[in-house]
Amino acid sequence: MKKIHITTHANLALIKYWGKRDEALLLPCTSSFGISLTALKTTTTLYSHAADEDLIQLDGNNNASLHIPIRKFFDGVRTRFGINTKFSILSKNHFPTASGLASSASGFAALALGVNSVCELGLSMQEISVLARTGSGSAARSIHGGVVLWHKGQALDGHDSFAQPMFNASWWPELRVIIAVTTTQEKKISSRAGATASKETSSLYPGWLERSKERLPKIIEAVRVRNFHTMGQLAEADWTDMRDVMLDTKPSLNYWTEVSWAVINKIIALREQSGLATYITTDAGPHVKVLCLAPDAPRIQEELRTIPGVLSILESCVADEPTIEEEYGNFIP
Ligand code: PMV
Repeated sequence: MKKIHITTHANLALIKYWGKRDEALLLPCTSSFGISLTALKTTTTLYSHAADEDLIQLDGNNNASLHIPIRKFFDGVRTRFGINTKFSILSKNHFPTASGLASSASGFAALALGVNSVCELGLSMQEISVLARTGSGSAARSIHGGVVLWHKGQALDGHDSFAQPMFNASWWPELRVIIAVTTTQEKKISSRAGATASKETSSLYPGWLERSKERLPKIIEAVRVRNFHTMGQLAEADWTDMRDVMLDTKPSLNYWTEVSWAVINKIIALREQSGLATYITTDAGPHVKVLCLAPDAPRIQEELRTIPGVLSILESCVADEPTIEEEYGNFIP
């Protein structure tokens, strides 16, 4: 019997995914672009067995509602590939488990990579990305390390909506993302429900789609030539657009707290008053992700530590490809 140990990293979008053209297949309205982060590591162990149901353990948390999307993912895998066995899944996030830190992305990426290996499905990376996407949209990006482009695709069945690696982890060794963790609370509105509501109710949504499409080739070029200012400006502009869409959603989606705004204002002030090269992005949660280059990271960390309510600060480089290790033995769930 084979047991698989997988290490994946969450992927931070610089050009965001927010809203779907197909809700069931999780097909996005936009192509998105992001970087895999060393600080947001998930390790997952997976094997198949003959027990009656999937056995799931997440960070030692056995709250059954968190298991529903995972069971659904494996039901989909069983139907699609004609697999009869159940699975044992143990997944651990090596960062403060907190809302909006994309743990579902790294988690489902690991499950897609893992099930391909355990069941010897022989899928290509493109097909694994498509499979990961069926668990959580942004997981399509997390099956790779480095800097990744997730193609929106055109096909109705979603086979062309997958992530493509663009630059490897060593492409830009000075690039840093500093994460200000601002809460340990679960977010009130899931990104899935929030994005659907934004697409349906925000009048700003179509404009953001257009601008996001224009920004994409520019940010790819900025990373290619390692132009930090252009990359940061484009990433921050895409975030402000997504943020405005969220706030304009009816009812309004306010994922941020006073602490988030204190961090955002501090970073903007540092840029405007001290000329520090630093930019902001956030996702569907209150944590703030600060882009900078390695020489400025200590100063930014120091400034963030002075803000009351910042619970912890995580510094990230661009992460390598996921790793997959095999272990053979007789495993009893
Ligand atoms: O994959 P989901 O449904 O959790 O959506 C993630 C959406 C954002 O994090 C807000 C943006 C992104 O592209 O990662």
